[in-house]
Amino acid sequence: MDVPAFSTSMAIAKGRYLLLFLCVQLVVMAFLYREGYRKRVSYFLGIFYKGPQVAVTTNAQNTSLRGDVYANLSLIVKLAVPADSLPYCPKRSPFIGGPIRVALPEGLTLADISRKNPYVSRGGRYQPPDCESNHKTAVIIPHRNREQHLKYLLYYLHPFLQRQQLNYGIYIIHQAGNNTFNRAKLLNVGFKEAMKDEDWGCMFFHDVDLIPEDDRNLYSCEKYPKHASIAMDKFGYKLPYKSYFGGVSALTPNQYMKINGFPNNYWGWGGEDDDIAVRVSLSGMLISRPPVKFGRYRMIKHGHDEGNEQNPRRFNLLAKTRRTWKQDGMNSLQYTLISKEFLLLYTNITVDIGSDKSVKRHT
Ligand SMILES: *[C@@H]1O[C@H](CO)[C@@H](O)[C@H](O)[C@H]1NC(C)=O
Ligand SMILES: *[C@@H]1O[C@H](CO)[C@@H](O)[C@H](O)[C@H]1NC(C)=O
Ligand SMILES: *[C@@H]1O[C@H](CO)[C@@H](O)[C@H](O)[C@H]1NC(C)=O
Ligand SMILES: *[C@@H]1O[C@H](CO)[C@@H](O)[C@H](O)[C@H]1NC(C)=O
Repeated sequence: MDVPAFSTSMAIAKGRYLLLFLCVQLVVMAFLYREGYRKRVSYFLGIFYKGPQVAVTTNAQNTSLRGDVYANLSLIVKLAVPADSLPYCPKRSPFIGGPIRVALPEGLTLADISRKNPYVSRGGRYQPPDCESNHKTAVIIPHRNREQHLKYLLYYLHPFLQRQQLNYGIYIIHQAGNNTFNRAKLLNVGFKEAMKDEDWGCMFFHDVDLIPEDDRNLYSCEKYPKHASIAMDKFGYKLPYKSYFGGVSALTPNQYMKINGFPNNYWGWGGEDDDIAVRVSLSGMLISRPPVKFGRYRMIKHGHDEGNEQNPRRFNLLAKTRRTWKQDGMNSLQYTLISKEFLLLYTNITVDIGSDKSVKRHT
């Protein structure tokens, strides 16, 4: 009699374990689903990503200690010597002040910004009037229908870069027409067009809605491709996942060519930044990052973007990067330059980059 009773209780125990196991499965799946694709992408990248782990901390800084980004710009004055006999700038700029107070001024006009930045010349170019800069940086900003954001960014970026004593230029890459937005391809165009103007030593690829909050976040390049926007307010001043490469990043022309530039086939929002991170990894480089205290950014809020819907193909594309990155990039870039205007605060490059050929249109 004992034996069957024993096996019955065994069966019940087994059944309970099975039930428990299924419950745990369900909870895990629900969790993964909620965390969304970012986590899955992160896992996928994590398989071959061996970059440095960044310890992220949320540090709520005392905002009353933050400085005005224009605070000591008036200390920068022209030296009374010929331009070719200027001394080199010091290793660390004396005008760097640390945390910057970001408040979006109302009624701001481009003319106001020009007035506040008297040493900026046509095309949005600048070099320190008192020393020879050690760095030549081009800032490339993909753009369409974001004039208000652009104004705020220019208001902060110009004095920010001057405080770092950089020789710099700001390029807006404007996608003409109404086809789906393609951030990465616009950045490829920006790289190519900017290099025609000048032998830039460093390219900063910059989203239009991100304002840097600390001028110790240097806009110069490193030994490895740099991801600068590691602490955005939108993500609680933390990296959303380990291999995140979106927002603001920087590469030297050599690093850029080594990864064959950026992909041209990501139409719509998302995925292209992960593709770039994979390219960096596949070409044997790591990702460098500024300290978390410095890489802070404030994101300007905006509504839904017409013509920049989520890209439904991004996972498929990402899964193929390993096979496609050498064929798709700078070596396959095609576009039509519509205009190049050297405006007061930036160079406006307007391009026709075509449309997504892979989407079948039902007409
Ligand atoms: C922030 O710094 C100011 C000036 O040092 C100080 O008076 C204030 O108490 C600080 N606030 C907080 C919340 O620490
Ligand atoms: C520039 O301004 C910051 C405050 O934003 C200050 O800490 C720093 O000392 C200033 N630098 C110079 C050279 O005046
Ligand atoms: C783009 O869309 C706007 C508004 O819907 C329209 O006025 C304009 O003609 C379109 N441009 C092109 C090139 O189709
Ligand atoms: C850039 O130039 C194009 C073509 O002239 C124009 O439509 C667009 O508004 C300009 N964009 C900016 C941000 O200046």
